[in-house]
Amino acid sequence: MKLSVIGCGYLGAVHAASMAQLGHEVVGVDTDPDKIALLSAGRAPFFEPGLDDLLASLQDSGRLRFTTDISEIVGATAHFVAVGTPQRRGENAADLTYVDGAIEALLPYLSPGDVVVGKSTVPVGTAERLAHRIQEVALGAHLAWNPEFLREGFAVADTLTPDRIVYGVAAGESGERATAVLGEVYESMLAANTPLIVTDYATAELVKVAANAFLATKISFINAMAEIAEATGADVTQLADAIGHDARIGRRFLNAGVGFGGGCLPKDIRAFTARAEELGRGESIAFLKEVDAINLRRRQRVVDLVVDALGGEPNDKRVAVLGLAFKPDSDDVRDSPAVDVAIQLRGLGAKVSATDPQAIPTARRLHPQLKYKSDVSEALAGAEVVVLVTEWREYRELDPVAVGELVASKVIIDGRNCLDAAAWRAAGWTYIGMGRP
Ligand code: UGA
Repeated sequence: MKLSVIGCGYLGAVHAASMAQLGHEVVGVDTDPDKIALLSAGRAPFFEPGLDDLLASLQDSGRLRFTTDISEIVGATAHFVAVGTPQRRGENAADLTYVDGAIEALLPYLSPGDVVVGKSTVPVGTAERLAHRIQEVALGAHLAWNPEFLREGFAVADTLTPDRIVYGVAAGESGERATAVLGEVYESMLAANTPLIVTDYATAELVKVAANAFLATKISFINAMAEIAEATGADVTQLADAIGHDARIGRRFLNAGVGFGGGCLPKDIRAFTARAEELGRGESIAFLKEVDAINLRRRQRVVDLVVDALGGEPNDKRVAVLGLAFKPDSDDVRDSPAVDVAIQLRGLGAKVSATDPQAIPTARRLHPQLKYKSDVSEALAGAEVVVLVTEWREYRELDPVAVGELVASKVIIDGRNCLDAAAWRAAGWTYIGMGRP
């Protein structure tokens, strides 16, 4: 099939390449010429394991091209909208400027029978509104909402082998056409028995935010237990192991630490709260405000632990910050707890040396004032406290004895509870975890 993908960020670039990998002919469109130039050269504009290889392998296939010219979508049957819906500045609600802009840009080029497929995370009610707009202007074109559940760091695998496919469609013939077209797009996945839920627009939109709200709640739940553990001398990691053995609870997403960040979970729970309030149902998910508050307290907790370790006097003290990305295997620093901790410590006068295997360029663009060291040994040199805030494999595997030779003082704050506390203590370190004695 001929497909177009509007927006070539973390979601759209991976979707475009994955659809071409499935055998479709895909044109990816983005307004950023630099991004398009890189993608056209077969290179990912951001770090995502496996994406560079996939793009390179598709270079000679003739099935994948990228452009800044939206008119090149003509001839495609399904048009995926994968642009961002960031948090509005100074508000909780989502900014729909890019989604609305993408739809308006598409409208003049749609043909009867075409299906616009929303993938962006939007407030419930958006699809209904956009469907009316499409009906008004592009007669005979249809809209489906097909949320995406990929995780950064696993984006290619999650796109090619999703654990479920959901689409929201209109009632009647429009919905039948959209369902048929998406059935062709995802034919190989459906043939592999991937669970499929075909539903209405509102449910499809809500599935996405409900999933992220649940995950955020799970993380904040265990971080709340970490706060209680800190007051009682209990160990939250053992607690998570023990409750996680109950299959109804499950051990995944029960890692306490500096909390969640990224371009999705934080802004999605805020936008969901704002939308529920608009609907007069703010009470129903008021607990998400608490989820957010618990999460943000963990960042402050890490900062407080560092300040305590420095005897309450952070000014001019050397602090090594290991990690900037919001999670390992990503260069994404949007709402990253790691960056937040580094910035706060610098604000308190500490001499922060921050490092990350991939995210220094993205962090530097947003926070040029921070001091970055691409070499982890240089970041550690002379540190009076080391704080680990993103659990990259290279940090989990650090040798406490070797690191001990580099620092001025052997104190480590493990903001992700990912180190072997006993091994670090045995090497003479003061090891401080999150919610652990
Ligand atoms: C999240 C969801 O997991 C995806 O299903 C969804 O498609 C995506 O948002 C999205 O809406 O696009 P992602 O933001 O890539 O994916 O990252 P996650 O793996 O969910 O991690 C989010 C944050 O939670 C990270 O900062 C991570 O360090 C933190 N986390 C995760 C914890 O603090 N503890 C855990 O136990 C798990």
